[in-house]
Parts: sequence; C-alpha cells; structure tokens
Amino acid sequence: MNAPAVPSAPSTARRSKSPQGVKITGTGSCLPATPLTNADLEKLMETSDEWIVQRTGIRSRYRINPALGESTHTLAAEALRRALAAAGLAATDLDLIIVATMTPEMACPASACRVAADVGATRAGAFDLNAACSGFVFGLNTAHDLIKGGAYRRIAVVGADCLSTLMDYSTAGRGTAIIFGDAAGAAIVEACDDAGKGILAQSMHCDGEGWKEIYVPECERDFPPGVACDPSKYGHVQMNGAAVFKFAVGTFSDLIQETLDAAGMAAADLDMLVCHQSNMRILQSARERFGLPEDKLYVNIDRVGNTVGASVPLCLDELCRAGRIKPGQKVMFVAFGGGLTWGSSLWQL
Ligand code: UT7
Repeated sequence: MNAPAVPSAPSTARRSKSPQGVKITGTGSCLPATPLTNADLEKLMETSDEWIVQRTGIRSRYRINPALGESTHTLAAEALRRALAAAGLAATDLDLIIVATMTPEMACPASACRVAADVGATRAGAFDLNAACSGFVFGLNTAHDLIKGGAYRRIAVVGADCLSTLMDYSTAGRGTAIIFGDAAGAAIVEACDDAGKGILAQSMHCDGEGWKEIYVPECERDFPPGVACDPSKYGHVQMNGAAVFKFAVGTFSDLIQETLDAAGMAAADLDMLVCHQSNMRILQSARERFGLPEDKLYVNIDRVGNTVGASVPLCLDELCRAGRIKPGQKVMFVAFGGGLTWGSSLWQL
C-alpha cells in the first residue's frame, strides 16, 4: 500500500543534528482597534478612574469588536505576520506554531491551526498551550528545548488572549473587568550557530490546589467546595483578587531569585526584566526587592491592562521595536497566573 502524500513537514529523522544555539529573530504584536478606557468603564459599572488607577495602575485597555472580525486567532495571526516580517521569514519557513491562549474561539480546532491557515504556514505543526498568563513563557521554554533537541529549527511562539469574552461588564464583575484587556504578541525562535545564545535558566511551576483562585465556571460542578453555584457567573472569570495578589507578590520575587541563582547571576547582570503585567503594585514590589532601576523593568499595563498570555510578548515586541532589547543582552521573562502557574525564561540574546 502506498503511503499518503505528506507535505514537506519537519521530521526528527531529517533534523537529527542539534544546533549550537537558539535565538529570537523577530517579534510582532497586535492590539484591537478599540480602546476601553476607565471613563468607558465608569459608564458600564460602579467604579471610578481614581479607584482603578490607584489599585492597578491601569488607565486603558483594548477590547475586540467581533463586528470588525477581531478574535483571538485574528490578533494572533497579525502578530505572527509582523514577527515573520521582522525575522525576514516566510510563513512556509516555520516548522511549528505554538499559541499560548486561554481564550480559543472553539475547543476544536486549536487556535494555532487557525493561525497557521491565516498566515499560510503550510509546513508547520501547530498546537495550543494553556497555562493562562504563564502560557507564553512556558511556550518559549518549550520552543527553545525542541530546537535544542534538533527536531525543529524555526518555531513561532504566540501569546494571544481576549479576556473581554469572559468578562461581566456590570458592577457584579467589576473586580475583574477593570483589569483585563485583549491583545496578541509573537516571537520567532530559531536555531543558530552561536553556542552562546539561548536559555541560561528556566522554570515552569504549578500549584494545582490554587485552581480555585482563578477559574471560569461553565456548570455547577465547576464551583469550588464551599462556593454556591450561581448560573449568572457561568462563562465569566471568577478571581479571588486578594489571594492572587498575595501569591503574586511572594512568588514573583522568589521566581526571579530562583532563576538568577540557577544561572549564577545577580539582578544587576540583567539588561531587562520582562514581567507579566498583572498589577502595577506587583511590578513595583518586584522592582524594589531587586533594586532595579525603572528602565530595567518594563511597564505598559497603564496603556493595555493585563493581557494574560499576550502580556509578555507584547512587552517584548514594544521593547525590541524601541531598540531597548538587542542581541547580546541578558533578558529574563517571568509570568504567573491561573492554575496556579508560574514560570521564567532567562535568555542570552
Ligand atoms: O494575571 C492574572 C492574575 N491576577 C492578578 O494579578 C490580580 C491580582 N489582584 C489584584 O490586582 C487586586 O486584588 C484587584 C485589583 C483585583 C483588587 O484590588 P484589591 O485592593 O484587592 O480590592 P478588593 O478586591 O479587596 O476590594 C476592595 C473594595 C471592595 O469593597 P468593600 O467590600 O471594601 O466595600 C470591593 O467591592 O473595593 C471594591 N471594588 C471596587 N470598587 C470600585 C472592587 N472592584 C472595584 C472596582 N471599582 N472596579
């Protein structure tokens, strides 16, 4: 029997030679067309610009408009097109696409498959990865090690989320609706001959017992023990903000220290710390703990809010385009989120 015709996808057999190093060769990002300011939220719920700015540092965020055709996979595809252009690659050069998202439009297919179709990545494998806000960092670690293993040479890692689809924009949902925004960011990760380039230290963690601090119930059994089922909450993010805040402040600092220790580095050796943008106060506490100057811990939460899986790659792209992240630098990516999950990726670029 003849084997079915298979397009020229990568195979581990053909790519057995491990590369010397791994580098990030291009980045891109995409925001929806429509901003959602604190003043807009004041019209939808009982809240105030003053409360939101004081508690979170957020002044505006973006929200997709489905009538404009915006969705998780369209933002992701546009971010990827821009990253490919920055890397000087065609979509057909990609071996694999990983999309980190907790807001795929459908359970099947994976958003990554829609993205592959949108950009014309006909040779690439594609799958989604869900680690909530930690997703892009987990994806970066995964892509790096798949390339190091020799099976793949060019992988796109995309972080894309549209949490607006899981929000209750009434006063009942104000504890979460004020925080989250929609976006996508992408990075192209490639094999290279320079053995000095790639990940110096990485980590991926989970505390499954903490699932109940951030969850999206769909039916009665999804509510944690002791929490009454409330059908009005179906499809909306339920977050214990104070518990997550406490977890984040401690975990972020421990995570940064653990990663520096694993690489035998001090905070002063870092050129840039790219943190998940969760809350301005959480970012400030990490910066103060390590005595980092303001320009070494990037902040864009005031303009875009907490964009979940898109948060870290959006920062990365803005920094690359501003010339503030360059080859030769040491850059640490850190994130935490639902799961609970948290992880880091420290690169020699
Ligand atoms: O990336 C995913 C991980 N998530 C996070 O990192 C989120 C971490 N947590 C946070 O950022 C903060 O906990 C929030 C910003 C979500 C909330 O701030 P908080 O200082 O923890 O406020 P709270 O939830 O303790 O609420 C304090 C008060 C409450 O009123 P009472 O009970 O004291 O009368 C809330 O009802 O503020 C009220 N409140 C609001 N008031 C105006 C809650 N949300 C709002 C709002 N506007 N949007």
